Amino acid sequence: AAAAELAPPPELFSPQRRNSAGTNLSDPSVLQHLRRELDEYAGKLWQASPLVDGKRLRGEGRPVYSPYQRRLAVGQVLASGAAEIDTALQTAESAFAAWCLQPVVKRAACLQTAADLFERNRAELLALCIREGGRTVSDALAELREAVDLCRYYAANALTLFGRPQALPGPTGEDNRLGYRGRGVFVCISPWNFPLAIFVGQIAAALLAGNSVIAKPAEQTALTAMAAVRLLHRAGVPKPVLQLLPGDGAGIGARLLSDPRVAGVAFTGSVATANLINRQLSQRPGPIATLIAETGGQNAMLADSSAHTEQLVRDALQSAFNSAGQRCSALRVLFLPEETCDAVIERLIGAMRLLRVGSPWDFDTDVGPIVDDSALAALHAHLLRIAEFGKVLYQTPLPAACANGCFFPPSLVRIPGLAVLEGEVFGPILHVVSYRAGELAQVVEAINASGYGLTLGLHTRLESTVQYVARHARVGNLYVNRNMIGAVVGVQPFGGLGLSGTGPKAGGPNYLLRFAVEQTVSINT
Ligand code: NAD
Ligand code: ALA
Repeated sequence: AAAAELAPPPELFSPQRRNSAGTNLSDPSVLQHLRRELDEYAGKLWQASPLVDGKRLRGEGRPVYSPYQRRLAVGQVLASGAAEIDTALQTAESAFAAWCLQPVVKRAACLQTAADLFERNRAELLALCIREGGRTVSDALAELREAVDLCRYYAANALTLFGRPQALPGPTGEDNRLGYRGRGVFVCISPWNFPLAIFVGQIAAALLAGNSVIAKPAEQTALTAMAAVRLLHRAGVPKPVLQLLPGDGAGIGARLLSDPRVAGVAFTGSVATANLINRQLSQRPGPIATLIAETGGQNAMLADSSAHTEQLVRDALQSAFNSAGQRCSALRVLFLPEETCDAVIERLIGAMRLLRVGSPWDFDTDVGPIVDDSALAALHAHLLRIAEFGKVLYQTPLPAACANGCFFPPSLVRIPGLAVLEGEVFGPILHVVSYRAGELAQVVEAINASGYGLTLGLHTRLESTVQYVARHARVGNLYVNRNMIGAVVGVQPFGGLGLSGTGPKAGGPNYLLRFAVEQTVSINT
């Protein structure tokens, strides 16, 4: 009977599991329908506040405005204080044991239901991603789809991995089994640039492995996080098992992560914050906590003289400027051979002239806003500094309508080499470096020497070059003759090496394992 209870129902564990269908934005009737759906949320004001043990803190919060229109209110966020943090820890710890002992089928069913609810509530979630996060419509659609796919993929994965213990050899007649269980209280800390997909993906993995969760969303996108947590609760995740603590990362992090009840942290964000969290965890008393950190990159695309120019230009443009360059995977430095460099630059500029920068609420927009004024200021400061070493070749003009939002013009900058960059540049700035014929190996070495290792694009028609770069480049995701963004769940497991992250890869078959502990049971029969 116990084995029957553990067996996954066929609809959850299907080898034919497919990612969800996309939205065909080239169909005018689909567009019209989506427009009507979104317009219902054009003026809605949302609220976010600490949600602990299912109870919402009430009070006046800080107002939130759209990054593309500084006067357009989106709602209010009430930040978590010390009392909410302490109660969240206590509640999550008490709720852990019962949740961990649930058959994995039940946990998977909750995440499957959550995926269905995300799809059913798509208009509101899309509107939040656009109005609060500044995501373009196509980015928001892709993000919703990724959140849904992550829930379903990890649910199916959990059933395979955790459904029943693995039988091991018993040479002395013992019955030996290897099983998995949750670690305890997992803290999930997410960035603003994927307010739904990364936020939900971390939580889904932690819950499926049997952990209770305290979710700390990015300051900039707490409203989207609140909507997602409400749907997860509606899907059957017990309220004490999943708490939400919006508010300032440093303040909440200092109190939460110094507590020995935290068994693990799933963090996605900057390298600096990951290092700080690592130090905090290592200095606290009590058990050693697990840290899964997915961080930034200084991602390059490398073309040789055999590259197909049109394809290279299209892929470089998408990789650098989609999501206004605010993807960890985005292209930052394009390496071009000297002999084709000028021709490629000319075509890149031609393509950049056609980019439409503007409000993400408009379906026509290619490049939306920067998330906030401080991120915008960092990009201006970078451009000012880099002008000392390089030359700004082109900037797509900003339309007048962008004046009241956080917009930065897509920019193309020639620089002498990677060494002049100081860490990750998180926005729509594409740097170009030329290299001499025969020096491709040195370019790969320079990319490795940066210490980052997230994505790398390669454009070549030479199989020997593909083999060389695949063997020598120390990156988590190598994309050949295509763009280098938008990793697909279960198809391109995503994550970096070195400064770019600890692994395991999100959307891949090994991700859930890090959220669990192994247990060997040996029974002398
Ligand atoms: P960030 O590091 O500033 O913040 C990330 C999260 O950490 C936020 O929720 C923030 O509130 C929290 N935080 C900040 N200080 C903290 C502290 N002291 N203790 C605990 N939590 C703290 O990053 P960001 O600006 O929100 O996101 C952009 C960064 O994320 C970029 O570097 C990007 O490359 C990276 N990123 C990486 C991936 C990936 O999969 N590798 C995906 C998306 C974004
Ligand atoms: N997974 C996201 C991408 O591949 C970050 O663009």
